[in-house]
Amino acid sequence: MEGKIIGISGSVVTVSGLEDPKMNNIVFIGTNELVGEIVKIEGENAIIQVYEDTSGLRIGEKAVDSNEPLSVELGPGLIGSIFDGIQRPLDKILDKEGTFISSGIKVNSLDREKKWHFKPKVEEGKVVEPGEEIGEVKETSLIKHKVLVPANKKGIIKKIVEEGDYTIEERIAVLEDDGKTEEITLMTKWPVRTARPVKEKLSPNIPLLTGQRVIDTMFPVAMGGTAAVPGPFGSGKTVIQHQLAKWSDADVIVYVGCGERGNEMTEILATFPELKDPKSGKPLMDRTILIANTSNMPVAAREASIYTGITLAEYYRDMGYSVAVMADSTSRWAEALRELSGRLEEMPGEEGYPAYLGRRVGEFYERAGRARILSGKIGAATIIGAVSPPGGDISEPVSQNTLRVTRVFWALDASLANARHFPSINWLNSYSLYTDGLDQWYRKNIAEDWPELRDKSLATLQKEAEINEIVQLVGYDALPEADKLILDVAKMLREDYLQQNAFDDIDTYASVNKQYKMLKIINQVFDAEKAALDRNVPIEKIQAISVKPKIARLRYTSEEEIDNKLKEIEKDIEEIKKINVEK
Ligand SMILES: Nc1ncnc2c1ncn2[C@@H]1O[C@H](COP(=O)(O)OP(=O)(O)OP(=O)(O)O)[C@@H](O)[C@H]1O
Ligand SMILES: [Mg+2]
Repeated sequence: MEGKIIGISGSVVTVSGLEDPKMNNIVFIGTNELVGEIVKIEGENAIIQVYEDTSGLRIGEKAVDSNEPLSVELGPGLIGSIFDGIQRPLDKILDKEGTFISSGIKVNSLDREKKWHFKPKVEEGKVVEPGEEIGEVKETSLIKHKVLVPANKKGIIKKIVEEGDYTIEERIAVLEDDGKTEEITLMTKWPVRTARPVKEKLSPNIPLLTGQRVIDTMFPVAMGGTAAVPGPFGSGKTVIQHQLAKWSDADVIVYVGCGERGNEMTEILATFPELKDPKSGKPLMDRTILIANTSNMPVAAREASIYTGITLAEYYRDMGYSVAVMADSTSRWAEALRELSGRLEEMPGEEGYPAYLGRRVGEFYERAGRARILSGKIGAATIIGAVSPPGGDISEPVSQNTLRVTRVFWALDASLANARHFPSINWLNSYSLYTDGLDQWYRKNIAEDWPELRDKSLATLQKEAEINEIVQLVGYDALPEADKLILDVAKMLREDYLQQNAFDDIDTYASVNKQYKMLKIINQVFDAEKAALDRNVPIEKIQAISVKPKIARLRYTSEEEIDNKLKEIEKDIEEIKKINVEK
């Protein structure tokens, strides 16, 4: 039965006359059939948040229940796409209308005409389980799209098509279960607010390597882990997210941009398609899905965007890939939630956010994980969320609720950013709760003494902070020589190791092997200098050996050349070992 609009308040519309309305169902609103979702049921009436611009909508217009929850289309063609928060392809909408987005345009998320080259992987007569691979499509130069038995289906393959070209709506297989047959196509659908099932979550004991020294060495995130990047205005959140999108060793990247400023998203839309995947030289978009929200898009679509993002990520996880989701910034998502909650006249909680903010944040990050997927293989979805607390004060609700559930905290710091120390991750208050679980991996795959070197370096940096307080009181000259040495080493760690210039061709990425070599040599210099001090060599004499400029150049030294440069530094270290008091 068709309903009727009886109230409109911004993006929230009240509809009466729907037959048995259900929470989260999609309803098409008005003559333009705007997409909306039932968010509340009040007696006979359904309260609907509309994902499109509602201006021009009138009371009395019709409303039709789709009887389906808000879902995304899943199938080949996702990679390389740019969608809005409810998976409408932005590029297509642009083509069609010439402007950004107008209401009520019906465009499919995935191309219905395009033919994909499908290769079957099973024979007719095979008994298949949910999530099992029945074939594949080469989706991009970098991604093989595994065609799976849908999560809730199983049975015997009664029929499967031959290798060839098919659209996403054509039947590629017929499944029979309990006498019932079911057609399988390349496209499926999944409700965005429901997590896709896995067999079991696995412990997070492999790092997601990012090529960013302060992250991989000091505060690593596990593959399938969660990380929060809170930071004040201009502190480098977006640059970090971009660096991870470019350099992390995930197979697939889902980038959800909720920019407050229109130009921030435009920038992404302009720059991402130009970028190359550094490892393969192929376009970065060949392994990336972009979800873009700008301030001129309706808030409800922004609220939905992170669910759309994680659902697409889970879909590729279920093919056995490691997927990383970047959400920048989740504060904009939370503000959308707050605005919608206000329109629904719900009881506001802290700072006007709904009381269920914490639960929603938790449910989102809960969908991350490294997991044994239905097929028995392993896949992972890592979530990295930026948070932009007003004034940079993380005592506010979005930061607090995020830090409660995420296991890595990269604390961006305004004073570091002002001093042009980038990434401005504060080494004194950031943390990773994955460190212990990852140590074994680093020991086995990089170096036995990796954890010790890291701990020693962090301890030096902590000591520096303590010494600096003393300097404030007594001045540098009054410091014991051992403390002066620590200040020297800590400066190297900060300037030549933790700092990393995203815009320098070489410095932008450092393999973990390079990271290890750099960290090791700095600590070798430290040890040699310390031993010299212990032999009563005056610090001026130690400082006179010009090892520091060489260390400073390592950042900008390519992976091929680094060993040669290390040899030069090793010669200096030998010299430090030889200096004597008498000389
Ligand atoms: N790793 C880096 N290397 C060099 N420069 C950097 C780095 N990180 C950040 N910057 C500098 O800081 C500027 C601001 O960074 P960014 O836009 O990422 O901040 P933000 O926290 O996202 O800001 P906003 O709150 O406005 O979204 C960049 O334009 C760049 O000049
Ligand atoms: Mg930003």
